[in-house]
Amino acid sequence: MCQPCLLVLYYTQSGNTERIARAIAEGADAGGVQASVKRVEDCGLADLLQADGLALGSPTYFSNVAWQVKRLIDESIELYSGQQLKDKVAGIFTSSGTERDAQDCLRMLEIALGFHHGMSLVEPGLMHISRDAEEKTRTECRQYGGRLAEELLARRVPAESTTEDKER
Ligand SMILES: Cc1cc2nc3c(=O)[nH]c(=O)nc-3n(C[C@H](O)[C@H](O)[C@H](O)COP(=O)(O)O)c2cc1C
Repeated sequence: MCQPCLLVLYYTQSGNTERIARAIAEGADAGGVQASVKRVEDCGLADLLQADGLALGSPTYFSNVAWQVKRLIDESIELYSGQQLKDKVAGIFTSSGTERDAQDCLRMLEIALGFHHGMSLVEPGLMHISRDAEEKTRTECRQYGGRLAEELLARRVPAESTTEDKER
């Protein structure tokens, strides 16, 4: 049976969101899926389509996502009319100076991926606050990656199930 793949996408300026992305991917890998990490600037629509699940993260900027992340979201309108991302597993994460603003940023990601694209969000999204201890963050990220992996593995259709099996 093939391993489902999770694409963890992020933008970062000072490195926090990248650390979260990598720890989420580690957690997902440990949970049995094939996770890869990519900056949003390097991500095309084909990447979004190819992955079984996506996790999208941004630093919180003015209670919102960074424009680089919004650009990818806006470009994904091409996939919207055909509902091409619908029901894919999705994770959302942010790094922020404050929890209140992080919640706003996560809400933006939730609206785009969950409400508009109809993806299946693993909630609640993950927030990292700048003052959080490194070890706490790493543990939470790995756990979130593990939950994404569980969700992806739960949807896997066994390769050995034949048409005959399904008719029984
Ligand atoms: C342009 C800009 C806007 C920001 N706006 C907010 C904000 O509205 N609320 C907040 O709590 N932190 C804000 N921050 C702090 C960042 O969210 C925080 O430092 C984050 O960890 C940066 O992530 P990065 O290291 O991945 O770039 C802002 C930082 C920058 C550079």
